Amino acid sequence: MHRFLQLAVAIALGLAGCATPPPAAGPANRIAGKVTSPAAPAGQPLPESPVLPDLNADPGIVEVDLYAAEEDVPVLSGATTRMMLYNGSFPGPTIEAREGDTVIVHFHNRLSVPTSVHFHGMVIDPEHDGGPWNLVSPRQSHTYTWTARAGMPMTAWYHAHPHGTTHLQAPKGLAGLIRILAQADPMPAEFGDTSLVLTDQKFDLNNQIVPDTEFDRFNGREGDRIFVNGRLMPKLVLRPGETRRLRVLNASSARFYKLSLPGLALVQVGTDGGLFETPAVAANVLLTPADRAEILVRAPAQRGTYTLMALAHDRGLGLRETFDRPLMTIEIAGEPTNSPPIPLKLRTVAPISLAGAGSRTFTTGVVRSAATGMLHFVLNAQQYDPLRIDQVAQLGSTEVITINNVGSGQHPIHLHNVQFQLLDASGVPIPRWEDVIIAQPATQTRFVVKYGLDEFPGMFMLHCHLLQHEDDGMMTDIFVNPASTPSP
Ligand code: C2O
Ligand code: CU
Repeated sequence: MHRFLQLAVAIALGLAGCATPPPAAGPANRIAGKVTSPAAPAGQPLPESPVLPDLNADPGIVEVDLYAAEEDVPVLSGATTRMMLYNGSFPGPTIEAREGDTVIVHFHNRLSVPTSVHFHGMVIDPEHDGGPWNLVSPRQSHTYTWTARAGMPMTAWYHAHPHGTTHLQAPKGLAGLIRILAQADPMPAEFGDTSLVLTDQKFDLNNQIVPDTEFDRFNGREGDRIFVNGRLMPKLVLRPGETRRLRVLNASSARFYKLSLPGLALVQVGTDGGLFETPAVAANVLLTPADRAEILVRAPAQRGTYTLMALAHDRGLGLRETFDRPLMTIEIAGEPTNSPPIPLKLRTVAPISLAGAGSRTFTTGVVRSAATGMLHFVLNAQQYDPLRIDQVAQLGSTEVITINNVGSGQHPIHLHNVQFQLLDASGVPIPRWEDVIIAQPATQTRFVVKYGLDEFPGMFMLHCHLLQHEDDGMMTDIFVNPASTPSP
């Protein structure tokens, strides 16, 4: 088994090492169909968001200051763009902590509208997370305190999560990465740690963000400009023979990224809730909105230029990009080096036991509002209402959750404050931690969750992470009762 894997990885990297010379021309030549040329100068070095300074001397506590405000910033060439940003940074600054650390976020709302901060992926008390039910008013502050669960180093993120207006805030820039470092990382330090935050946007001729159309509201909004860490087509430089660890986050409203790196191998080593058990060589890696992936890229011995692509992807709902898009250039240059080999065993992920598991089903749908006559995306035939408790579960119990997608489009479904495991076709948990999965059309997608993976009861949100669907009402909640309380 291990030998097979070793071989597979070796073959993939070997192939990468003696790849045919990279194409002489730029990414445009590699793409069939329409190409949107970047409006800002392409090929600038890939920037990385600053890490929020830790204001607390205690090594076990990370204490940071975070504010949200509207800012005019240069995003395209020419006029500045009015964005909504955390601490003036696009994307937001990175929150970095170590597994087991307590994180204190002093948040200040300098917007003219209510907002909240959701720590997406973190296994924390819903009471100390932000959501549609606990808004921070303009000019108000709120302190979020939580602990990064020991044993769960991961790539998570934080974003605005107000009621009904997340699609008007998060994609304007209110999103940033959370890097929870491992106490003992199986990944060699030589691989580095580079984050890629993918966002897309639509602008008018004055470089201002345009409102959603009716089509966007129904299908999810995709922008024609794609940013990596806030830049159009930036360039990442690797040394010949270098292996680099990439943490990729899809922070877009609705766009799916089918990542591919023609000429080089992508070795996926992790997903939402941290590392896999073993590396997996992938022809491409599909990232739905809110999804994360950890990927290793090994530079060949020869200098050259490669292009990270988002391949055409049909997500149903009548929306289909029929052409590939370039995201970023990877240039192999400088002094050769020889990174250590990729470890073949990353960690052990114990499968959640299905013994005694209950079950719960959520069915996708569209309803017409009696009041307005408008159509809305829903779960279990109900539009989300923050004042209503939809489902009740018991802390410590295990459940198989079925997403019964009866529609024609893919929905990225996210459950707050836990990490769960997808079940394969034969009903066996896949040993990987996830918090967002694709519900394929005309399919029942099943995952297993254990409430009490943490010790926290409270309100767990479940929703589609296409932000237009989420805000339209395709969201529900599960109230998890404390273990000692009988369920009503
Ligand atoms: Cu990333 Cu309820 O969200
Ligand atoms: Cu959806």
